[in-house]
Amino acid sequence: MKKQLTVLAIMATSLVCCKQQKNDGPAYLNPDAALEQRVESALSLMTLEEKVAIIHAQSKFSSAGVPRLGIPELWCTDGPHGIRAEVLWDEWRQAGWTNDSIIAFPALSALAATWDKDMSALYGKSIGEEARYREKDVLLGPGVNIYRTPLNGRNFEYMGEDPCLAGKMVVPYIQEVQKNGVATCVKHYALNNEETYRHTTDVDLDDRALYEIYLPAFKAAVQEGGSWTIMSSYNNYRGQHVSHNKRLLCDILKGEWGFDGAVISDWGGVHNTLEAIHNGMDLEFGTWTDGLTMGKTNAYSSYFLADPYLKLIKEGKVGTTELDDKCRRVLRTIFRTAMRQDKPYGAINSEAHYAAARTIGANGIVLLKNEGNLLPVAGNVKKIAVIGENAIKMMTVGGGSSSLKCQHEILLLDGIRERAGKDIEVVYERGYVGSVLKEQDGLTVKNIVEERSSEQLVEDALEAARNADIVIFVGGLNKDPHQDSEGRDRLGLELPYGQDALIEAISQVNKNMVVAIVSGNAVAMPWVDKVPAIVQTWYLGSEAGHSFADVIFGDVNPSGKLPFTFPKVLADSPAHFEGKPFPNRGKTYYDEGIFVGYRWFEHKNIEPLFAFGHGLSYTTFEYSDAKISRQTIRHGGKLEVSVKVKNTGDREGAEIVQLYISDKESRLERPEKELKDFAKISLKPSESKTVRFRITEDMLKYFDDAAHEWVAEDGDFVAHIAAASDDVKASLDFKLQ
Ligand code: BGC
Repeated sequence: MKKQLTVLAIMATSLVCCKQQKNDGPAYLNPDAALEQRVESALSLMTLEEKVAIIHAQSKFSSAGVPRLGIPELWCTDGPHGIRAEVLWDEWRQAGWTNDSIIAFPALSALAATWDKDMSALYGKSIGEEARYREKDVLLGPGVNIYRTPLNGRNFEYMGEDPCLAGKMVVPYIQEVQKNGVATCVKHYALNNEETYRHTTDVDLDDRALYEIYLPAFKAAVQEGGSWTIMSSYNNYRGQHVSHNKRLLCDILKGEWGFDGAVISDWGGVHNTLEAIHNGMDLEFGTWTDGLTMGKTNAYSSYFLADPYLKLIKEGKVGTTELDDKCRRVLRTIFRTAMRQDKPYGAINSEAHYAAARTIGANGIVLLKNEGNLLPVAGNVKKIAVIGENAIKMMTVGGGSSSLKCQHEILLLDGIRERAGKDIEVVYERGYVGSVLKEQDGLTVKNIVEERSSEQLVEDALEAARNADIVIFVGGLNKDPHQDSEGRDRLGLELPYGQDALIEAISQVNKNMVVAIVSGNAVAMPWVDKVPAIVQTWYLGSEAGHSFADVIFGDVNPSGKLPFTFPKVLADSPAHFEGKPFPNRGKTYYDEGIFVGYRWFEHKNIEPLFAFGHGLSYTTFEYSDAKISRQTIRHGGKLEVSVKVKNTGDREGAEIVQLYISDKESRLERPEKELKDFAKISLKPSESKTVRFRITEDMLKYFDDAAHEWVAEDGDFVAHIAAASDDVKASLDFKLQ
């Protein structure tokens, strides 16, 4: 079908080329014509039926173009960590292609942990090229839902708890993907903060939290990144599904932010024709005829925005103004992508893409603790015991729609073995059995069936630990249901499968123990004081083992910092305070308001296990000469703060310098401090660099919900230069006048 249309499009284009010489071709086929002119030209030639046909799906991942006019189909793909394998036309089952294996890039939580906009650009460029090669027009990602609770099964697909960090990291990803003529589809707009009841939960919160915490990253994606599409989320907001939520789609996204692209529904997110018509839904995907789970085959014409819409128009019950607006948005998307003339070819599985995945992964790893400089693995180590299932488990498969079919995946154990070479003996013991799934999301996973009893596994692990110079325990979560997984939230903060007891037992027999946590979420660590070294390893994709070994052996100096807070216990975190129920099938009010993540922990004076922004290095940095350019900033003005950072250790390393601002007194309650900017700098031993941040009035504002405007109040502020939210190096006072 797609090929046929491409041929038609080529025929139509060449017809027009001939006609253009006579200057009488329709503008929509003229690549040099302005976008809006092309859109109006196409729209004016489309029949009512053709218009309705382009605003809903025609298969699992495509929508129809206008074959008669040579306007091609629009092809979507998941997203957000790699290009999903082909599924059948009308089923989720694998299509069984042999040429759709690709690279899995690190999960977005790992990308966020780099705090590095260049890494985000590299990620976007690489995944954009893979999408382009696979002839996809819309990449379903990236995700920027704010990390509200560590139990959200999809946090691994998002960029952490802070709107400034997520907002700055998402922009380069989008810009680089779209250079390939592939639209990003930023998801899941908005307030999709839990999975289990994602279709029914009905979120409400105050406008300050909405505007200050949950929307800024989406706004940045649309206004600064220029994302051509956005995906509406499954949940309700104030009693109305987000896929046809007037306030979120019409008033805020298209009204206040001026978004001119297409709102694509999450798969099965549309529930009502009239609301979808009037409340901003542009392109309906994944609807099932019984609501959400099942349906007759090829039900596309019975979608809410298909025949039912056509019928209402024909009966004169609704007009066509909304239809034309939806079509304009879909046509813009097609002209920007599928019908773009100068599209590059793209590439998959290239050396450059593997190198990008490896670098991003290594840069995202966070060294949480390193007593006695146990890491990197010292030169005198002759025997390493690697223990834990996650060293041998494939992590690119599973977790839901982000599951990938990779050309290869370097497991963590393989990465360690390869780097250890002949000089260091590496023994492996599993220690526990977690996942034994042989297939996930229709993809085969490496078979790791285990015959031994759990007692035997522990015994064997302890024996291996006793006889090694160093133990690297590789555990954490995985992509099974109720772990880091779409559709089902986690059931608790604890590590699953008895890992806590195993870690304690190993720490008794070998003091040189490194714990590596593979997860996209915070986990409880009751053993935190008993092990000298802890590494947050994330899901690192195809090159996981290489990235991990790069850091463990010191070829890469770790420089990642946490994009979210690790609480000591679940009840410390804002969504679970005082035993609040989670997840919520029905109404859920975000009582904590703007106090999300570190804002909450600081507001309530709760000590976290590891703070937002925390991350160690194998070298040390000294901060000095913190300066502020003026004591006073005027409305509309700016000032500069600067600090000198010196590498005081003996190896090259990178430091993430963070700028937080506090408002000393204000009419409405504000957090202790809020992240406003950050910079990552690389320093050779003894080298110093000066980091400069510009402070503008906008960075001092809060959202006044009563007046519905951003306000910067005159008064005293403090600029904090910090290495982490709990490690402020200098505080500089200034006034807004
Ligand atoms: C997920 C989306 C995904 C879509 C298509 C939905 O269930 O929530 O993130 O893009 O499926 O696979």
